[in-house]
Amino acid sequence: VVARPRLTVIGTGYLGATHAVCMAAVGYEVLGVDVDPNKIAKLAAGEVPFFEPGLGELLRDTLATGRLSFTTDFAEAAEFGDVHFICVGTPQKKGSQAADVSYVHAATEALAKGLRRKALIVGKSTVPIGTAAQLRDMVHAVAPAGTAVELAWNPEFLREGYAVADTLQPDRLVFGTESRWATEQLKAAFTPVLERGTPLVECDLSTAELVKVAANSFLATKISYINAMAEVCEATGADVNLLSRALSYDERIGGRFLKPGLGFGGGCLPKDIRAFAARAEELGVGQAVSFLHQVDAINGRRRTRTVDLVRELAGGSLQGVKVAALGAAFKPNSDDIRDAPALDVARMLHEEGADVRVYDPEAMDNARRAYPDLTYAGSLPEAVAGADVVVLLTEWAQFRDADPEMMGWLVGRRKVVDGRHALDADAYRAAGWEYRALGRPTTSRTVELATSEADSIDLGIQVDLAAELL
Ligand code: UDX
Repeated sequence: VVARPRLTVIGTGYLGATHAVCMAAVGYEVLGVDVDPNKIAKLAAGEVPFFEPGLGELLRDTLATGRLSFTTDFAEAAEFGDVHFICVGTPQKKGSQAADVSYVHAATEALAKGLRRKALIVGKSTVPIGTAAQLRDMVHAVAPAGTAVELAWNPEFLREGYAVADTLQPDRLVFGTESRWATEQLKAAFTPVLERGTPLVECDLSTAELVKVAANSFLATKISYINAMAEVCEATGADVNLLSRALSYDERIGGRFLKPGLGFGGGCLPKDIRAFAARAEELGVGQAVSFLHQVDAINGRRRTRTVDLVRELAGGSLQGVKVAALGAAFKPNSDDIRDAPALDVARMLHEEGADVRVYDPEAMDNARRAYPDLTYAGSLPEAVAGADVVVLLTEWAQFRDADPEMMGWLVGRRKVVDGRHALDADAYRAAGWEYRALGRPTTSRTVELATSEADSIDLGIQVDLAAELL
């Protein structure tokens, strides 16, 4: 039995910060390392530099135990750790579809050079297939003689918004190693997670790094599949929501990641499928995954089709049309706007001359920085006030739960595009809204189009009341 190893986590972005905090929370001594002194200072002060439910509290609790600390010094990390997790980013290369692995290389090299005793370096970043083998060769070349440093791969599947739960209670662990010793080290580094009965797949480096891109490609494909069906529904008058539900009862298909709408965004799925396709091309197996180009194209069409739908509802032109854009983050419970479908749609509406007002409960600062030309509202009521068309782009609970009647009092015209199939179409129609969603019929099966009954109430009072209650 291997004693509990001391862990370092190199790269304290989304993945690294979460991993460091969670591992310290379950009892390990952990040192978080980053080249960015601001990030390190914030984390050491108990502040998470991004929005993730529950992580801030856990960070402050674990800092108080003394098991978690942070540094910018790689030599300190080399001295401290037995198992070193590489969690630095692999962004899309500028002007290319491929992933940029230079940060992974740099961090691994800096660490390996400083090691003075046998240690395990574990890659966690999402990398193009083949990277792990290159890193292993590099590590063997640069690590000081006699240290016998090894490299392993342990892909990470955490979702934003569920990062803590996904780290401590993952669906599975995957250990890609080249020796029994490395496997035992990794088991010792995950004892509390394995003790929960988490399934473990032990494999080689190549399989381990492929699991991650294969999983993300499958998830992206599933979303684009149902969105492709939505396009067919549009041509036939069928309802993609009912179709999705009917498909989901087949256990072989399952209902998760089968939600139609605006499609996927974020820092992982879009980038990963593009990088995977590019890498497969290099490996001479581009044809095997050429469907990923379609997956990407279908996903992109959701954005332009949503703009089309808003234009249609506005009467054929967006020029001067007041649009309330609800949502900016790529999904709810996140402030992440990387490749966010919501902001892409808001930008296109703006470029076509619409007077767009964007509101998001968490992502406003990030959105303002990235899209300074858009107009932002300070609240949901402010966003929808006087709008000609409301378009739901990120399905935050606050938007889903908003009362259609009260929203109706605030808007100029009761017209809504439900980009996420998250609103109660019947309730909106009953409140006199023209409700539209991609892949759904223009009228409801169950509710006759009803006109608003609110005409007799004083409008000023209604607006105040709605603003207060929303
Ligand atoms: C994803 C993977 O789920 C995770 O395993 C991996 O480690 C990183 O990438 P994340 O990017 O946090 O995680 O987001 P996820 O919850 O998977 O959602 C991705 C996108 O797909 C979002 O934009 C979401 O709105 C969209 N989506 C998801 C759909 O459009 N329909 C669905 O049915 C599910």
